Order: sequence, then structure tokens, then C-alpha cells
Amino acid sequence: MLDVISLTKKFGANTAVDGATFKVDRPLMLGIIGRSGAGKSTLLRMLNRLTEANSGQVLFQGRDVLALQGRDKRGWQSDCAMIFQQFNLVPRMDVVSNVLHGTLGRRSTLATMFNLFPRDDIERAIAILDRLGIAEHAPKRAEALSGGQQQRVAIARALMQDPKIILADEPIASLDPMNAQTVMEALRRINQEDGRMVIANLHTLDTARRYCDRIIGMRDGRIVFDGNPSQLTTGVARDIYGADADFSEAATSTSIDAIGRSDAADAVIRVAQAAI
Ligand SMILES: Nc1ncnc2c1ncn2[C@@H]1O[C@H](COP(=O)(O)OP(=O)(O)OP(=O)(O)O)[C@@H](O)[C@H]1O
Ligand SMILES: [Mg+2]
Repeated sequence: MLDVISLTKKFGANTAVDGATFKVDRPLMLGIIGRSGAGKSTLLRMLNRLTEANSGQVLFQGRDVLALQGRDKRGWQSDCAMIFQQFNLVPRMDVVSNVLHGTLGRRSTLATMFNLFPRDDIERAIAILDRLGIAEHAPKRAEALSGGQQQRVAIARALMQDPKIILADEPIASLDPMNAQTVMEALRRINQEDGRMVIANLHTLDTARRYCDRIIGMRDGRIVFDGNPSQLTTGVARDIYGADADFSEAATSTSIDAIGRSDAADAVIRVAQAAI
């Protein structure tokens, strides 16, 4: 399915990613761990062509991803939606419009300028927000939401693209444990229920062990571990993080705040339509 072969990126004399090779043959949830500077973000960014590799190959369903140009490249970038630590929402814009921006790739410039969204898209956006438990926030400005809610808005925006892969770069690094758990559970559900591959850079071992089917460990640009959570022993972790690292921290609490799901989607659609 996804075949990464000797992928390498240099910044001057510094090799950020050094011959990364791995193969994913089903849409699993893959965690990437490693110390700061290990090359995790650079690896993700090369997969969706935000950063161009110096050498190596990325094949997805047999297609040579790094060779794609123009429309094909943009098509690939919408097939592998990216989620960031800082959410990258438009803070003063309402939630549903932020989500609808996930469809920008296929809308005309004029429609974009006037913020005109087809009713079908609005309904789909609301349905996605509802699935993520935040439909009642649809008319609010993004900045009025908690971090965990904002990250779910970013996930909803990604889902509007109907991606085959979700690339998440430290999606919970700015969140408290409870919000972190909600976001990780949302990603896990999307992975299991929709069959979308999720590749997430994670800074805590606990989270990777708990949510991922497979974990890749990076050190100094190289992949030094590739296996399932049970193989990720303390000794292996020490090898990935270095002996002096604090890799045993608890990542998340175990309590989940049950966030009420809104059945008021119709009302929200009316509000959203009135706004455009
Ligand atoms: N745009 C850039 N220009 C120059 N060097 C860069 C650039 N981006 C990353 N690097 C360097 O490449 C290496 C890998 O960085 P990267 O951001 O991929 O690490 P990371 O594992 O994501 O770290 P963190 O956990 O801090 O996010 C680092 O040495 C970093 O300084
Ligand atoms: Mg990073």
C-alpha cells in the first residue's frame, strides 16, 4: 500500500532523515516516536510533499508519489491530509466554515471569495462535526473552542477531503491529558471505522503504545525500531531516546469527559446558511 524506500532529506550538512525505509500493507495506525530533532516532522512532510526529498522513493498503491506534478501532486496532497500541533484553523472564522475549507481544492475561486458552500457540503461538514462530538459548536468562532475541540475541528476539516491517509504531526502535544485522549480516540475511530491509514508523530511512548498498531522509532534521522507495541520494551525505548531521556512519563489520564453529542444539526445548518 505505502512503500517508503531510502527516503533522505538533508538541510545543508545536516541529514534530517537518513535512508528511511518501511512498508505499510494495510490501513493501520502507525506511530512515529523519537527525540526532538530525530526527523519525525521531516519524514511526514516528505510523505505529502510539503518538503521535497533529496533522494529515495515513496510509492502509494503503486504510484510514484515523489514524481507527481501539478494537479496530480495536489490530488495526492488531498489524499493525505495533514493535522498539526497548533491546529492551523482560522481563529476568527466559525467552525463550520473552517471545516468547509477542507473542500477548497475543488471549489472555484469565485465561490471561495464569496464563501459560498453547497448545501451538500455544509450538511456533510455538520455530519462530520457531529461524529466527532462537536456539532453544537459549528456556529462558534474557532478561537472560542478548547484545544481538544479545535483539534477535532482540524480533523473534521481533514475528513472533508476524504483522505486515504491522515498525517498527524504531534496532534496532542498542546493538549491536556483529557483532550489528548479524546483526540487520539477520534483518530483511532477514523482509522478503524473508515479504514484510513493514520500516521502520527507522538512525543510520548504511552500514547504510541496505547493507540497504535505499529510504532517506528527514529534516532538521528534513522529508523532504529519498527515493530508492534509489545516489542517496544524499556530497553528499546532507551535505545530510541537515549539513556538519559525521560521516556517513562505517563501520557494521558484514563478519564474521558463525555462530550455531549448534538442532535441539533438542522438548527446549526440554518445558522451556518444565514451566515453565508
Ligand atoms: N527547514 C529546515 N531547515 C533547516 N533544518 C531543518 C529544517 N527542518 C528541520 N530541520 C532540521 O532537521 C532535523 C530534524 O528535524 P525535525 O523537525 O524533522 O525533527 P522532529 O523529530 O520532528 O523534532 P521535534 O520533536 O522537535 O518536532 C533537525 O536537526 C532540524 O533542526
Ligand atoms: Mg517535529
